[in-house]
Amino acid sequence: MSHESGYTNPTLELLNARASCRRFAPRPIPEDMLRQVLEAGIHAPTAGNLQPYSIIKIEKEETLRRMAELCGNQKFIADAPVGLLFCIDWRRTQRWAEFEMAPYTAASSFRCFWFAFQDTIIAAQNICTAADSVGLGSVYVGMVIECLAELRDMLNLPAGVLPVVLLSVGYPAKKSSPARKLGIDVIVHEETYREISDEDLADAFDEKYRGREREITQERLDKIRQVCFEVHGEEFAEECIDRIRANGHIGAAQSYFGLLYEANRIPRGNANFLKTIEAQGLDCFEEYKPRG
Ligand SMILES: Cc1cc2nc3c(=O)[nH]c(=O)nc-3n(C[C@H](O)[C@H](O)[C@H](O)COP(=O)(O)O)c2cc1C
Repeated sequence: MSHESGYTNPTLELLNARASCRRFAPRPIPEDMLRQVLEAGIHAPTAGNLQPYSIIKIEKEETLRRMAELCGNQKFIADAPVGLLFCIDWRRTQRWAEFEMAPYTAASSFRCFWFAFQDTIIAAQNICTAADSVGLGSVYVGMVIECLAELRDMLNLPAGVLPVVLLSVGYPAKKSSPARKLGIDVIVHEETYREISDEDLADAFDEKYRGREREITQERLDKIRQVCFEVHGEEFAEECIDRIRANGHIGAAQSYFGLLYEANRIPRGNANFLKTIEAQGLDCFEEYKPRG
């Protein structure tokens, strides 16, 4: 932590104290405060200084409630006074190019998609930090990926505008404690990539997820066995169950990938996601065919 090294300042303190907030007070955000947070956020770095993103600011209760439902019934989305939907936006730049009679292919370029995705997230994170700095809390909602078409219709998103992530923002009802993270000794590599030893790796994850093991129940075992079977086959499934029984609990990784983010389910639908993105006017996963 910053204060251990002797270097400290309000920015480092703020970043080290950050934690996602999922319990919001029923208190509106003053309009000028939100404006300032947004202003600070959009000063974020952006490739070529193009700012190919839009932020849909959602405050209507009914819309927030619908978004909560669409995003896996995550109730806090409706409890927060504001939802900020960050979208890649190649539409605005396209219109600008059209006004000026400039050649334009950004929405057809994977390179541009790659940059625009980063630009969008970097702006979102600046806004997250700016919100923290004025005493607000926030949490990202990645589940918007499950309802891209519904969001497009509900929010009138034109071709070229693609939702990336939602940030629910509001006054925290209760200050959350920072979550444990893998340390920089694991995350940062000196000069070249270095594989840490199995022992150090296991220790690092054990330390981070200490207390996240889950009790064995028949239902959980059945689910993990099924997930393992579908992904790696019969033998792996039996070995995984034997390991759980020998340990006397379901490990954090087994719980994450076997129960929560089921490894058999999450890679499904890749082709559909690409189709949805393409239908939204971003044909950047196809080979580009010049007209001339
Ligand atoms: C891209 C992204 C998507 C996320 N989606 C969700 C989500 O759908 N629901 C949720 O409760 N938290 C979501 N989170 C928050 C993470 O769960 C959270 O950042 C993580 O558990 C670490 O906790 P911390 O933010 O308090 O450090 C998301 C975070 C990111 C960066």
